[in-house]
Amino acid sequence: MYIAFCVESYLFPSFPKSVVLGRSLLKILRPIILIALILPFNILDLKREIIITGDGSSTIHIPEWNEQYHSKHGALQEAKHVFINTGLIPYINDTKNTEISILEIGFGTGLNALVTWEEASAQNIAIKYTGVEAYPVAKEEVEKLNFVEVLKDPKAESFFKDIHTSQWEEEMEIIAGFKLIKQKKFFQDIEDHEIYDLIYFDAFGARVQPELWSVEIFKKMYNALKANGVLVTYAAKGSVRRAMLEVGFGVERLPGPPGKREMLRATKKIEL
Ligand SMILES: C[S@@+](CC[C@H](N)C(=O)[O-])C[C@H]1O[C@@H](n2cnc3c(N)ncnc32)[C@H](O)[C@@H]1O
Repeated sequence: MYIAFCVESYLFPSFPKSVVLGRSLLKILRPIILIALILPFNILDLKREIIITGDGSSTIHIPEWNEQYHSKHGALQEAKHVFINTGLIPYINDTKNTEISILEIGFGTGLNALVTWEEASAQNIAIKYTGVEAYPVAKEEVEKLNFVEVLKDPKAESFFKDIHTSQWEEEMEIIAGFKLIKQKKFFQDIEDHEIYDLIYFDAFGARVQPELWSVEIFKKMYNALKANGVLVTYAAKGSVRRAMLEVGFGVERLPGPPGKREMLRATKKIEL
């Protein structure tokens, strides 16, 4: 800083010393201020810790954002309520489809894929599951998650291990009837056209990532769904509902998981 101050004083001798000192200080601090502004928005730099939620299942907590990958009231019960009981099961019952393609926004811990496979295999439904994720969970974190112990399903252990060790960008048959493709990319870059029956919209909350709950993103989701496809999310905010309505979804407010009054289910209603 002293050097910057001397250079400024030499170049602008008529400036009062305090102005020169202020400008030099600003020059030094500018990159630091810029880095400080950018850092909190890079998810990879945020600290992540494993915590136990209300139903005994684990999740990942981000202290800086005071945000979790799942509800603190129960990760497993939230996943089952929002995505299985309000998404997958009604979709199967309404359509009688025996092959369902699902897009998950974002793949994260793999809990939603796990509970989807459990339900689909019990009902003999074939699943093609696409998990989009820009910041994959690390191997050491996966090893600390207790979903398999909590589910008490002996077959779940190898399934859970395999979904995390499967190659990115490659479609893999994890087990008969369950194909998975993990895509490492930003939700903002999704350009799929009418290929999914069901979308599990499980982004971080609008409080921390408002840009993911926008008209622009829901337009992408609408385009990615087949006619009469369904999107489910734990969110119930008025602004989220309005963004969904704006892109053409029919939207229902439904009872939320424990700890949350409501959640949303959006349908791409098309007369066939
Ligand atoms: C609430 S967590 C959901 C996790 C997941 N569904 C699960 O059950 O573990 C949101 C996920 O979205 C990912 N994510 C956040 N912003 C993203 C973006 N712009 N593009 C792609 N993935 C993103 C995060 O890394 C995180 O895994």
